[in-house]
Amino acid sequence: MTLRIGILVSGRGSNLESILISVRRGLIKEAAVSVVISNRPEARALRIAKRHGVEAVAIDDRGTPTEEHASMVAEALMEHGVRPGEGLVLLAGYMKILPRSFVDLYEGRIMNIHPSLLPAFPGMDAQWQALAYGAKVAGCTVHFVASEVDAGPIIIQKAVEVREDDDEDSLASRILRQEHRIYPQAVALFAEGRLRIQGRRVLVSR
Ligand code: GRF
Repeated sequence: MTLRIGILVSGRGSNLESILISVRRGLIKEAAVSVVISNRPEARALRIAKRHGVEAVAIDDRGTPTEEHASMVAEALMEHGVRPGEGLVLLAGYMKILPRSFVDLYEGRIMNIHPSLLPAFPGMDAQWQALAYGAKVAGCTVHFVASEVDAGPIIIQKAVEVREDDDEDSLASRILRQEHRIYPQAVALFAEGRLRIQGRRVLVSR
């Protein structure tokens, strides 16, 4: 059965695009991106979705309480066949914290990408945090979403060396290149039914 994927975005949409390309090229098998939803109507990510022929929906969150907005998002996902217990929800630069009710609804079926080697540097500006701390190694993490921010079970991580002449932009762009590799890999593993969550660990079967 085809896995139906819904992708939540807020901005640039480069991770969204890497996933759309991977589905089109058959690197992610037995899966289709059914809908892209943005809390920002002006997000570039919505234009990327349309360009790829994917349904793009804006659900503006300004003036709407978090819980209410999240249930509007869940409704739109379901309308597009991304059902709890069946579909997969991907956060790709989604700048909102999902309430527990949403995380529980799609339990074990929401993924996020974060530009640090978690649990180091959660939250905003992770690349800047790594530089400011003087870390020698930075990187990115794909993880399942739990209701605590950037804290769910880790699926794939990739390390990126911090160079002495790095600034936030140069480091962020080297990390981003790796994000575009590991996010589609993690989605492919999920679509192939090869991921199993055991406590904090994610086991990958061959
Ligand atoms: C990425 O760095 C991702 O790790 C973080 O937000 C950024 C989104 O970029 N969660 P894009 O919208 O995918 O280009």
